[in-house]
Amino acid sequence: MKDEITREDRVAGLKGMGCSRKRVEDARFTQGKGNYVDDVKLPGMLHGDFVRSPYAHARVKSINIDAAMALPGVVAVLTAKDLEPLGLHWMPTLAGDKQMVLADGKVLFQGQEVAFVVASDRYVAADAVELVEVDYEELEVIVDPFESLQSDVVLREDLDPTAPGAHGPRKHHNHIFTWEAGDQEATEQVIDNAEVVAEAEMYYHRTHPCPLETCGAVASMDKVNGKLTVYGTFQAPHVVRTVASLLSGIEEHNIRVISPDIGGGFGNKVGVYPGYVCAIVASIVTGVPVKWVEDRMENLMSTAFARDYWMKGKISATKEGKITGLHCHVTADHGAFDACADPTKFPAGFMNICTGSYDIPVAYLGVDGVYTNKAPGGVSYRCSFRVTEAVYFIERMIEVLAIELNMDPAELRSINFIKKEQFPYTAALGWEYDSGDYQTAWDKALKAVDYKGLRAEQAQRVEDFKAGKTRKVMGIGLSFFTEIVGAGPVKNCDILGMGMFDSCEIRIHPTGSAVARLGTISQGQGHATTFAQILATEIGLSADSITIEEGDTDTAPYGLGTYGSRSTPVAGAATAMAGRKIRAKAQMIAAYLLEVHDDDVEFDVDRFAVKGAPERFKTMKEIAYAAYNQVIPGLEPGLEAVSYYDPPNMTYPFGAYVCVMDIDVDTGVPEIRRFYALDDCGTRINPMVIEGQIHGGLTEALAVALGQEIAYDDMGNVKTGTLMDFFLPTAWEVPNYETDFTVTPSPHHPIGAKGVGESPHVGGVPCFSNAVQDAFRPFGNRHTNMPHDHWRIWQTANTLGMHD
Ligand code: CDP
Repeated sequence: MKDEITREDRVAGLKGMGCSRKRVEDARFTQGKGNYVDDVKLPGMLHGDFVRSPYAHARVKSINIDAAMALPGVVAVLTAKDLEPLGLHWMPTLAGDKQMVLADGKVLFQGQEVAFVVASDRYVAADAVELVEVDYEELEVIVDPFESLQSDVVLREDLDPTAPGAHGPRKHHNHIFTWEAGDQEATEQVIDNAEVVAEAEMYYHRTHPCPLETCGAVASMDKVNGKLTVYGTFQAPHVVRTVASLLSGIEEHNIRVISPDIGGGFGNKVGVYPGYVCAIVASIVTGVPVKWVEDRMENLMSTAFARDYWMKGKISATKEGKITGLHCHVTADHGAFDACADPTKFPAGFMNICTGSYDIPVAYLGVDGVYTNKAPGGVSYRCSFRVTEAVYFIERMIEVLAIELNMDPAELRSINFIKKEQFPYTAALGWEYDSGDYQTAWDKALKAVDYKGLRAEQAQRVEDFKAGKTRKVMGIGLSFFTEIVGAGPVKNCDILGMGMFDSCEIRIHPTGSAVARLGTISQGQGHATTFAQILATEIGLSADSITIEEGDTDTAPYGLGTYGSRSTPVAGAATAMAGRKIRAKAQMIAAYLLEVHDDDVEFDVDRFAVKGAPERFKTMKEIAYAAYNQVIPGLEPGLEAVSYYDPPNMTYPFGAYVCVMDIDVDTGVPEIRRFYALDDCGTRINPMVIEGQIHGGLTEALAVALGQEIAYDDMGNVKTGTLMDFFLPTAWEVPNYETDFTVTPSPHHPIGAKGVGESPHVGGVPCFSNAVQDAFRPFGNRHTNMPHDHWRIWQTANTLGMHD
């Protein structure tokens, strides 16, 4: 029997960083005890529902609400006319544009909000929606951004066609912005004079984050106390509070925004939607709480989409394969209103990370944003501000260049990686990568899958196919990605003028347990589990004794929320820094109790001990108690700390992925035989949570690459507005993922951690896509667009003459 508690026991007891602590959230989630917005039921609560436009572009000639108002249970029907006196018929977007809250004279996309019905229950509201009579006059619809830039049709009649937009001059009445990075002239010169040039045009199709829980809000105006409480599916509750205050004129301290449990966000719940505004106005008007929760179709048709980037690239190299230049132009379809959720200075997000993991001497990126008759949005969908577009672009360009050079794409990557000793590395488009060891990760990945063996097998398969022995081809998808996460330094990144720092406030209770509140909000990422682990290691109290709270603006310190994998890089750093403030004070208390100088004690796991005399110590629990009853003369009692952390740089996680796929050319059905994912997210806080994040991100990557799409017909009708048509993978399609890692800590992050949540999506999409494209490479394929659904794969095989 063990009679002594060892240091290892003490470390294990903390359940700190590096330990696969079980998720503390799951007890309530797996027992149906989560508290989501739709679980919020307040006394006297009314329910809202939208009348939405069936047309993608139409003038609204009249709205008749009489029949709807006559339905028993209907309390109000709001239209733009009702909101106009309040100045709320339009609202500002996160991208510096404005968006109609309710149709003001015309509609610009199918599913646009036209009127808001408020009724005694959800069913009555839905019935009343059917009774609202709207007279529309159809207008010409534009769903193609290239056509939009040529068209005489003015989509945004509210804008002065010649006036500049939020991001500078506009070239056309349907043009939103031009955004450039890099040196255009130098890049074009290098490419014009290069030994080898590869070109590709690719469409990264429109898709949607489609979280399991749709968006919703419950607004409750307490007219007696003048206090507005809003529960909502908000990824950035403090920002919502500030926006709500600016829009409504209610002072910010009188607004309480609460994000309860959130059933997935993936960027979809960052923006402000008309439903939130209408629920708030309806509650102010009626004096009772009003709930609005959208259904699945409404979520897919009208809330923030992702991607929709038309990318045109040129990449140049020497004959030996050393890349010399990269040129990229993007036509970005932003839909009816520019409501992209990006930091203010980055209208195309971090697309200028498109030089990827490669040492490219010169590069240029130009992006043109365009209005069309599609839903607004443009969120990062599990990718930090357009990084997945950037990584998809460069990882396809590498493959196309490999074809041009007749070279193995794995070798081409190796030749061009930024080398370990080049970090910190400033890329041609401006970012300073903090740390990386790409070659080590790549070698590990290729060895793990026996890359050479796979290529030999593939070559044999090509022979067999040509000899008529098989109808299945084999693809080896490669991707090496560098992410950029942790927006961000306040000097670079703000949203609506608010710098993108984040925060943590800690209170240690006398008995040695604690509560920590953060400016972020988990949507399933397990913050309550992992942030407690950071603190456990920093302050020496068990993670089980630390409660993490997020999402209530009345209690949590101001923060910019959770998206773009910023929680660990920013709020995680704030947590460590606040923990260190606690530890600094604890050191003084320990020294006082031990009657030695502050410098003569040192921190050891869960205690401060006298240097050279480890048997003389005070545990953090004892110190916590002393902070409240044996106060050092001249020092304040209590043990609390707060940190607002402005990161000096982003963090740059990276990874090496390989996908092995067999494709039946007659059915177009891909079978994923193997998927290997090596991720380097710096210091690993909770390996099990990381693995979960990777499984989830890869599955969403599979979805996007192999079928998921928001497709429109020429009339602007959404063709994939239900889960019958919009592909959500199930256990049936999802392969067994093999995960692996290397650890290259971030040099500027207090604990060396980089974000991870988005990496698997960013790296996964090009990997799945490259697998499909690689299978057809031996038969002449250069590039085909995603999503690679069965029909499109079949078409590729057909175009290549494989059905002849
Ligand atoms: O911002 P978001 O929470 O979506 O993304 P993240 O910062 O990448 O973190 C996702 C989850 O993975 C959190 O629970 C993190 O604490 C955890 N994580 C980790 O355990 N180790 C890392 N190096 C990075 C994230």
